[in-house]
Amino acid sequence: MKYRETLKIMTIIGARPQFIKASAVSRAVKNHNFRNPEGVYIQEVIVHTGQHYDENMSRIFFDDLALPEPDYNLGVGSASHGMQTGEMLGKIEKVVYTEYPDMVLVYGDTNSTIAGALIASKVKYDESCLNKNRKQCSSFTNKALRPILVHIEAGLRSYNRRMPEEVNRVVSDELSDILFCPTDTAVKNLKKEGIGNNKVSRIDLSANRPSCIVFNAGDVMYDTALYYLKIAEKKPDILNRMNLFDSKNNLRPFILCTVHRAENTDDTIRLRSIIKALNYVSDQGIKVVLPLHPRTRKIIGQNNIAVSFEIFEPFGYLEMILLEKHAVAIATDSGGMQKEAYFFKTPCITLRDETEWIETVKSGWNILAGADTKKIIKYCLSVAEGKGKNKEVPFRSSGKSKKTAFNSNNYYGSGNASDKIIEYLLNLCNYSSTKTL
Ligand code: UD1
Ligand code: UDP
Repeated sequence: MKYRETLKIMTIIGARPQFIKASAVSRAVKNHNFRNPEGVYIQEVIVHTGQHYDENMSRIFFDDLALPEPDYNLGVGSASHGMQTGEMLGKIEKVVYTEYPDMVLVYGDTNSTIAGALIASKVKYDESCLNKNRKQCSSFTNKALRPILVHIEAGLRSYNRRMPEEVNRVVSDELSDILFCPTDTAVKNLKKEGIGNNKVSRIDLSANRPSCIVFNAGDVMYDTALYYLKIAEKKPDILNRMNLFDSKNNLRPFILCTVHRAENTDDTIRLRSIIKALNYVSDQGIKVVLPLHPRTRKIIGQNNIAVSFEIFEPFGYLEMILLEKHAVAIATDSGGMQKEAYFFKTPCITLRDETEWIETVKSGWNILAGADTKKIIKYCLSVAEGKGKNKEVPFRSSGKSKKTAFNSNNYYGSGNASDKIIEYLLNLCNYSSTKTL
């Protein structure tokens, strides 16, 4: 292959949802390189911070989603926020000064996100290093002082600063040069903070206050969900181990549940209320399937919280999306799963007091129950009794048709967000190839 030039991007990931998001963009990179043998070659350097490390929190996603092996695994592991983020900072900085990427891509809102964002904003490439190390880099960025920082899944807000994720989002968005939003709401959230109000067609990294670009590309998680659902549906036997089929081999109704957010696990009163509700639902004969995040498993054990149904280890992605598709409802505090419920038209009961994914609530497919035992029970029983069946809107209190015009009203794009992101980044390179950064 005779590529014209090389654009080097560094993908920084570390937690479960980031493997899922990055796999879509990685696939788009691979497709681009394959289809354009004489164009710009995108070299992706994958850095795994090691924030998640258990087999079923990390390795399984690289296998399920054909994500390339990380070029670097920083092995940071678990610790307090300061210790964990601090160790990431030192190690990511070292890798950036080894690789000199043109762009650094960070995803979502974890400690791995904020660490990547801080380093990409603070490193300083000096001329001699650039000449020595970055001979093949694109004309767009080879005079840049630092890598361009790209935030994928930018602009999400819960407006609850007690959430560690909200702090990570606000800081990462503020620092980013290119912000790919998954929804119009996210674009509006950024505008309210003065991010992306100006029309910019290039990034000037040498400016005192570099301008930034905000673009709604759609949601990369939707890309992954659409792509892998087809694959998962060809392997229905992956559900056999969950004991979901009756004697006639029909799928029994079940509620799929996950709990891992700090607000629900660190506060054992909330955790007890949630488990109490799920125990009650299970006692009514409705199967509850709970693949448990190690954080929650630990806290349930330490506090002797009684669970009256079977608990599973975390599932792989293919298992998970099949379960999401077939569940009568999903009860979760996960951000990603609220959206996946919507993608698959499965009613969602959110175990939080607010959500960043407000479209899912507005559309009537998601409802906030917080950690309120009574509400969780009420909503779980109502969907088990048939609300949301035949894909009717489960939670709309009043209003028009009970059937949503789902396809024409998809808030999360068309399943090609990652292609759009890659195309956008390449276009930006062309714009700027004659300009000095
Ligand atoms: C992190 C993210 C959260 C995201 C979640 C996805 C931050 C601040 N939070 O939360 O936004 O929703 O990932 O799942 O970045 N543990 C293990 N094995 C592992 C990973 C974690 O046992 O492989 C346990 C450890 O006890 C650890 C605890 O889980 O202390 C929490 O892990 P951590 O990565 O700090 O935060 P999450 O709760 O996973
Ligand atoms: N997920 C999974 N197995 C599990 C739990 C979640 O594959 O046991 C997937 C889920 O389908 C979604 C993503 O992990 O794609 C969500 O990650 P998580 O809930 O950990 O983080 P959040 O989205 O809340 O940041």
